[in-house]
Amino acid sequence: MNNTYTDLVHQTFHFPQEGFDTNDNNTLLFNGVDIQALITKYGTPFKMTFLPKIGMQVAKAKKMFSDAIRKHKYEGEYFYCYCTKSSHFSFIVEETLKHGVHLETSFAYDIDIIKQLYLKKKITKETRIICNGFKTKAYTRSIAQLINDGFTNVIPVLDNKNEFDDYKKSIRSKNPVNIGIRVATEEEPTFDFYTSRLGIRSRDVLEFYVDKIKGNDKFHLKMIHFFMNKGIKDDVYYWSELNKVLNLYCQLKKICPELHALNIGGGLPIKHSLNFDYDYNYMVNEIVSTIKKVCKKNKVDVPDIYTEFGSFTIGETGAVVYSVLDEKMQNDREIWYMIDSSFITTLPDTWGIGEKFLMLPINKWDNEYQEVHLGGLTCDSHDFYTSEEHINAVFLPKLDKEKTSEPLYIGFFHTGAYQDQLAGYGGIKHCMIPSPKHIVVEYDKEGKMEDWLYAKEQSPQSMLKILGYIK
Ligand SMILES: Cc1ncc(COP(=O)(O)O)c(C=O)c1O
Repeated sequence: MNNTYTDLVHQTFHFPQEGFDTNDNNTLLFNGVDIQALITKYGTPFKMTFLPKIGMQVAKAKKMFSDAIRKHKYEGEYFYCYCTKSSHFSFIVEETLKHGVHLETSFAYDIDIIKQLYLKKKITKETRIICNGFKTKAYTRSIAQLINDGFTNVIPVLDNKNEFDDYKKSIRSKNPVNIGIRVATEEEPTFDFYTSRLGIRSRDVLEFYVDKIKGNDKFHLKMIHFFMNKGIKDDVYYWSELNKVLNLYCQLKKICPELHALNIGGGLPIKHSLNFDYDYNYMVNEIVSTIKKVCKKNKVDVPDIYTEFGSFTIGETGAVVYSVLDEKMQNDREIWYMIDSSFITTLPDTWGIGEKFLMLPINKWDNEYQEVHLGGLTCDSHDFYTSEEHINAVFLPKLDKEKTSEPLYIGFFHTGAYQDQLAGYGGIKHCMIPSPKHIVVEYDKEGKMEDWLYAKEQSPQSMLKILGYIK
């Protein structure tokens, strides 16, 4: 038989490949983790985090930048910041910190996380904290408090001009405070608007600096920040925006000697299909060489380079595993596999922005395959998943005829970024489909893989309490 799921995978992709393989029983291994064994131990549905991937990703980016810096004799440093918004969980943020990263914040409550991390001795007052986002008064107050408490490397990045007035009023540091300016980028023509709502208009930045910051001994403009909504891509829009921002950096640098950092934000992509093909080394190399080229042409010193990778740091740590509960045939062609949870509540990006994730069955790779639609348990008509990144269809093994046999299990992989932040963790859920249990997998001190339950499946009581039925 050459139409098994195994055949399909081998005909379509290079397999096995980094992070994905099968074991002797032909069930899936994700980064060496036996997913079938986790299913046997914990039952589905569950989310899992493979923590060691974080260190691997941080090391990969640091190496790419240091290689490019060496190759181009670039006279600036590279700083890896983790943007907490992609996952605020303590076990995630603390793991990133073990790998020597700095942090980027987005909202006032992030500063409470920073304070906790300091109390737990996970960071020092020298850790670089880049404060991004449109600032509420509570956020600017919390940032000012951090600086007043002696955190020496906090860099508030101005998202608009008025924000600066808040710091002038509330920061009482004896030493000059470093600040940044986020430059609003132009989006691709296919996007819903032209210019990002985040940041200060590019053509206003120079005048703002001259009028408001230059000559103020309390504040130094240290960083220029930009972030393309569509991420770091090898296309004309990315290189054109990078060049524009670099020219602005050079103009400013000539009148602002303290300026010494360029923050290129996040946006390094991750694998959403086994067909993923992205040349990370080429992109990093091009970024470093472009910065050097533009600075040389303008006869200014190159900046230190900061990044704030969210998806890249933690996206590939995550997976969500479901059982297929049953098969429904709704017409001559469309077969639905009903999963034991909901896409809306566990992978909201699939529903909200049509995001695709890398999807593979865990077992039954020896069965024939067929095209199916995947359906979630909520009654929302959009709770489905019917196409993949590389093909406008979903193929999965056929279910066994005998009702008593083991169910088909499926996994969505590289789901570690943003999904819990968007779905909410706990709380009220569509049709009261609970948040699934969450398993963490890591290596112990002896290098042996161990798994532990971070959170149980959400209970009905937790929802009834919020809904006011029980105290
Ligand atoms: C300012 C800023 N930095 C970093 C990121 C992280 O982006 P990514 O998760 O694509 O790396 C974002 C994402 O929205 C952002 O707005």
